[in-house]
Amino acid sequence: MKRRIILLGPPGSGKGTLGAQLKEKLAVGHVCSGHLLRQEVEKNSLFGKTAQPYIARGELVPDETVFAVMGNWLQHANLEVGFALDGFPRTVDQAKVLDGWLAERARPVELALLFTADLEETLERLAGRRSCPQCGRVYHVKRVPPRVAGRCDDCQTELVQRSDDRDSVLRQRFEVYRTKTAPLQDYYTGQGKLVVLDTSMEPERRFAAAWAALG
Ligand code: AP5
Repeated sequence: MKRRIILLGPPGSGKGTLGAQLKEKLAVGHVCSGHLLRQEVEKNSLFGKTAQPYIARGELVPDETVFAVMGNWLQHANLEVGFALDGFPRTVDQAKVLDGWLAERARPVELALLFTADLEETLERLAGRRSCPQCGRVYHVKRVPPRVAGRCDDCQTELVQRSDDRDSVLRQRFEVYRTKTAPLQDYYTGQGKLVVLDTSMEPERRFAAAWAALG
């Protein structure tokens, strides 16, 4: 079964939701670059100070910062256990760097799952999204609710709404996705690793489709 998985798709398409399901059912590590960067912002670290204005505008954080944060994660990652990598890579250049890092350990990416989503569906989803600032798990107030309203199922932390989910920032994040991240579809197709998933399916049905793609 494939265990080194990239999750691709526009904002709000469900990468984080599937990543959490893969962590639970496949026991892989779920790593969201956006969550790691937001934690740096919370800590007010040097990386966080660099990242904050880019996140607030819905633009990509500079590669130097992203590579430092993600390189640190990879150094400690158990590549035999595997990973669901959510939000990184986000450009072809980032994908080439990741491939280089993994080649050094002879543990390449095995599967890239691409979510398709339209803007209107996504705006509705993100209006109801609540996230855990501690562990990063995501919910939807109606469609994927926590067991106790307003509290994370995993760590009981109070859930929050992300500040970059405002309409104007979200449209910018979509535009960045269209111009900079969408070319990764061709990159992973060229490697024979891309599988496209319909994101309009309910989370459990979509998980079943993803599971089938793991082989
Ligand atoms: P990041 O945190 O990665 O945000 P994103 O990619 O825009 O994706 P989201 O987290 O918004 O959505 P998602 O696809 O995970 O959807 P979710 O599962 O939550 O990045 C934020 C920022 O960090 C970037 O703008 C950038 O500035 C910076 N950054 C990050 N990585 C970077 C990189 N590599 N390089 C440079 N900069 C970087 O689902 C959304 C909602 O829908 C939830 O409420 C969920 O419950 C619900 N839902 C999910 N699936 C379903 C379903 N099937 N049916 C019904 N509801 C569903």
